[in-house]
Amino acid sequence: MPNSPNFLDIHAASFAYGGGGDVVSNVGWSIPAGALHCLVGRSGCGKTTLLKMAAGLLQPTAGSVQMLGKDVAAPSRNVGFVFQSPSLLEWRTVLDNVLLPISLHQTVIQADRTAAEELLELVGIKEHTNRYPRQLSGGQQSRVALARALITEPAGLLMDEPFAALDAITREELQDDLLQLATIRNTTVLFVTHDIGEAVYLADRVAVMDAGRIVFSADIDLPRPRNQTQRYSTAFNAACLDLRHAMTPTRRAVA
Ligand SMILES: Nc1ncnc2c1ncn2[C@@H]1O[C@H](COP(=O)(O)OP(=O)(O)OP(=O)(O)O)[C@@H](O)[C@H]1O
Ligand SMILES: [Mg+2]
Repeated sequence: MPNSPNFLDIHAASFAYGGGGDVVSNVGWSIPAGALHCLVGRSGCGKTTLLKMAAGLLQPTAGSVQMLGKDVAAPSRNVGFVFQSPSLLEWRTVLDNVLLPISLHQTVIQADRTAAEELLELVGIKEHTNRYPRQLSGGQQSRVALARALITEPAGLLMDEPFAALDAITREELQDDLLQLATIRNTTVLFVTHDIGEAVYLADRVAVMDAGRIVFSADIDLPRPRNQTQRYSTAFNAACLDLRHAMTPTRRAVA
């Protein structure tokens, strides 16, 4: 075992649903602790399946998935998972939704409530602590989901197109919130998105998936902390173009 294991090590991993063909095929990928990696690819290429393998929700049919040097056999409290839809419980307040991962396992104490309130402040919705999800906008619900994923202070976050349903400006704000939170807490992040610009803005490294395989990867060497004006830089656009080419099957020309 290495002295200082990566947060995530995926070795030659494959997955097939119910006897079908491989939807994830021979994937190798490592994420050092504290890094933010993005996975992009077309609909149906296997991104969510790979993320579920990383989360321990699916077991590889071949190869291995290790987190912090240990085989991933089941979901762990080391990892927060953020789904595409915020999936909040309608009958629970914002505060109680954030506390859910704790209340499932143990009695909530005052220190937990304080931690939840601090997180709600960090994601900018402290004033909505006692509201119910139906009283929030989509962007506010996404912020609650992010706070909920962080309440157990996980070492890593696995995020599946968490901001896909939001308008462009709200999305940019949430990207900045995520970067700030991940930096403050030194959280490792694997972030799935369809959006090339979002991937380049967030990531230290981006992988492109196609038909179950990683077909391209690149380090994103843009300076940190990132800021939205970088989106208009030559280096940013060059990185986007590389990814755009990698996502285009060879039989088609880039538009
Ligand atoms: N439970 C399932 N049973 C059988 N096949 C499945 C199941 N879930 C997904 N698949 C298939 O596996 C392939 C990969 O699906 P996956 O959800 O990983 O794609 P994705 O890249 O996340 O797509 P999207 O961008 O649309 O979310 C698809 O062909 C899909 O139809
Ligand atoms: Mg998906």
